[in-house]
Formats: sequence, C-alpha cells, structure tokens
Amino acid sequence: MKDPVREATERLRAAKLLSARADARILWRHAEGRDDVFQQFIARRLSHEPVAYITGHKEFWSLDFDVGPGVLIPRPETETLVEQALRELGDRTRSYRLLDLGTGSGCLLIALLKELSNATGIGVDASADALAVASTNLLRHGLVNRAALVAGGWDAAPGQFDLIVANPPYVRSGDLQALPPDVRDNEPKEALDGGPDGLDAYRSLAFLLPRYLSSTGIALLEIGAGQHQVVGLMEAAGLVLFRIVPDLAGIPRCLVVGLGRGLERLAQKKIGNRGPTR
Ligand SMILES: C[S@@+](CC[C@H](N)C(=O)[O-])C[C@H]1O[C@@H](n2cnc3c(N)ncnc32)[C@H](O)[C@@H]1O
Repeated sequence: MKDPVREATERLRAAKLLSARADARILWRHAEGRDDVFQQFIARRLSHEPVAYITGHKEFWSLDFDVGPGVLIPRPETETLVEQALRELGDRTRSYRLLDLGTGSGCLLIALLKELSNATGIGVDASADALAVASTNLLRHGLVNRAALVAGGWDAAPGQFDLIVANPPYVRSGDLQALPPDVRDNEPKEALDGGPDGLDAYRSLAFLLPRYLSSTGIALLEIGAGQHQVVGLMEAAGLVLFRIVPDLAGIPRCLVVGLGRGLERLAQKKIGNRGPTR
C-alpha cells in the first residue's frame, strides 16, 4: 500500500513547492487520517493556498493563532520584535500600556501580553476581517480583559503608550506581482502594499509616534530587507534611533526608536547594563 504522505510529498515537490514534506505531514495530521479530506487539502495546496489558511492555524511565539483569508499569516521574523521588546523593557511585571499598530491576527499584541503579566494593550487595524480574527485570538488566549481592538487607520488609537509595536505593509507596489503566488494570490493586499517605495506606512507612523509615545516609551518597527531609509524618516520626525536589530537570518529587521528621554536609557545601558533601564 502506498504511503499517502510520501505520495503527496512527491506531488507537491513536482509542483516546486519548497516545503513539500512538511506541508504534506501537517495536512495529513489536520485531515485526521481521512484520505478523501487529505486529497482535497493537497489539491488546495497545489493551487498555492498557504498551509495556514487550509488548517486555519499558525504558530507564533510558541502560541497557536487562528488565521484565515483576510489576515496576514504571522511570520517567524516578526518574533524579533517580541524578543527585543522584552529585552528593552527588562521588568516584565510593570503595568505597561501597549499599542500594536496594524495588529492583523493580533500575534504581536497577544505574545507581548502573555509575557507582560500586568500590561494592557490596544490593537488597531483598518481591516474588519483582521480584527475579527484578532478578536477570536484574544478570546482564545484569555486576554479580552487586558486588550481592546480599534477599527481604523494608524491614528485611531486613543492615549499614550509605553511600548508600541508595528509590522506595517512594506512591499513596494511595483514588487507585489513578483511575490510568490502563495503570498500574492492569497494574503491580503492591504497587509503587504507599502505604496510606490514601500514606505507609505512609515511616513504616517513617523508623524504619529511622537504623539503616541509616553516620555520614556519605545516603539519597535519591523522593516523589510534593505529599508534603512526608515531610520531617516523617524529621525526627521524628531525620534531617536536606539538600535537596529537583525532577525535570525541576520537581516536588519527591527528598529527601536523613542523620544529624547530614551537617551537616558541608552546612557544607562552603556554604563554597564546594571539594573533595569526603565
Ligand atoms: C504586515 S500586516 C501585520 C499583521 C500582524 N501585526 C503581523 O505581524 O502578523 C499589516 C497590517 O496593517 C493593517 N493596515 C494596513 N494599512 C493600515 C492603515 N492605514 N491603518 C491601520 N492598519 C492598517 C493591515 O490590515 C494588516 O493587518
């Protein structure tokens, strides 16, 4: 008897799908041994539907998130923001106010709220589909009492924040067509399209961050490969660059910026990393 996973792996490989074996295994598990269901899943994968949309799940920061069409599938490199935010804050028990701009599935907000036991947060998104998924995820992770979702543009959040995270759309409009079909034909354009030079969202954020940040607050922004111009946009808006942090592949991925008061934090770190910096 043929092994269904091996057979499916060969079909996916023949269609030049890179993670053929892993995909076949995940989809077999999700089909719970029903071969007819498995074959339907493989057919969907062969038409380049992402595995996470077929299963409805994606892991991020070792947490399980609901995902579906209309919401960006969380990427491993975005975990760089969570890791760095925790490093910057030090003390995980304070009652920080968090803001996640372009929350999508809510992965950044939820991962941070899970780690910061007394923090509260707001997730903003212009997409109703994304907010519906984020709302399900907040419920699943037991965080509805510590988080609110706001529908609207980058400027829709009320108040000031100690920690801001944002993974905005940053693909140049002209590059969208060249994206792999899994992404281009399935994930929401509004989560990807950063305008003619990929920097539209950063211009808005540069203008808004000085208003959103508390005096000692910090913002962590994901950037695309080679998007160093974002530093200039932030500095032109009066923000101070504290750090550029690479992802696991060594690509500069996360900018840490703040207001001038943040310089005290930097000075303290240079003195020798003694004690908390906030
Ligand atoms: C790259 S996705 C990031 C999603 C999630 N934070 C993550 O890291 O997986 C960008 C998100 O920004 C949202 N977005 C795009 N333009 C926006 C705008 N003008 N105002 C608010 N949200 C916006 C999109 O709907 C999308 O959910």
